[in-house]
Amino acid sequence: MTSTTDYRVTQEPFYRPQANEITLYEAAYKARLPVMLKGPTGCGKSRFVEYMAWSLKKPLITVACNEDMTASDLVGRYLLDANGTRWLDGPLTTAARIGAICYLDEIVEARQDTTVVIHPLTDHRRQLPLDKKGELIQAHPDFQLVISYNPGYQSLMKDLKQSTKQRFVGFDFDYPRADLEASIVASETGIDAAVAAQLVQIAGTARKLKGHGLDEGISTRLLVYAATLIRGGVSPREACRMALVRPITDDADIRSTLDHAIDAVFA
Ligand SMILES: Nc1ncnc2c1ncn2[C@@H]1O[C@H](COP(=O)(O)OP(=O)(O)OP(=O)(O)O)[C@@H](O)[C@H]1O
Ligand SMILES: [Mg+2]
Repeated sequence: MTSTTDYRVTQEPFYRPQANEITLYEAAYKARLPVMLKGPTGCGKSRFVEYMAWSLKKPLITVACNEDMTASDLVGRYLLDANGTRWLDGPLTTAARIGAICYLDEIVEARQDTTVVIHPLTDHRRQLPLDKKGELIQAHPDFQLVISYNPGYQSLMKDLKQSTKQRFVGFDFDYPRADLEASIVASETGIDAAVAAQLVQIAGTARKLKGHGLDEGISTRLLVYAATLIRGGVSPREACRMALVRPITDDADIRSTLDHAIDAVFA
């Protein structure tokens, strides 16, 4: 079955590079190497893939992986309808057929039997067997697989196998350096540069608490939320408490440390 959905990225996504990741990605794409993006939540991984798909003029199919996901959710399944059964391609199959970039977000959440379906697609074979349908798909020449991976969140039980990892080239993502992050927050929200810099300063304090009471620092995404609230008329202190502190911790001591940091910055 052919899909009528349009997966093109039509508008240029706003993306500020942190280093030479655009050039390196282009090299990986040219060789059609599968790519793994690593880094904490909300630091720009998805935005980067959207930007690259737009820049390379390739369709983009994103799949948010979860632990209930089965191989059929990726590959496809037979559906029952009035005329009997008909096959419906899953997102991975569609991507392999049309030559899209397929972005599997948080692949590690998926069960291992799910991850294994990507193996023949991510080595020299570039094939996807649809076992239930008895069809072997040869991936379109433009097809590329990209996965994201949050290092540190995994337990030993939940990690990718080496045989999966060693099919990818990897990019490390992290929060952008302070001046760049402030300019991203300002461009995304229209907030003035001085306030954006203050938000980044608060994030800097919180990020130092990672491993000392905080599991994860404040993401660029949350800074964008705070700036959006401030732009909408919320006072900076309230916006920061709401966007930067409440979501990330329930620990009373850490909350009060962060609240004080906010009061100091927005005195
Ligand atoms: N380099 C960047 N250029 C432009 N915007 C950025 C950049 N880095 C982060 N952002 C901003 O941060 C937000 C979060 O980024 P994104 O959704 O790409 O995070 P992510 O790394 O995919 O997170 P998750 O792991 O939770 O999916 C974006 O919506 C964007 O506003
Ligand atoms: Mg993402």
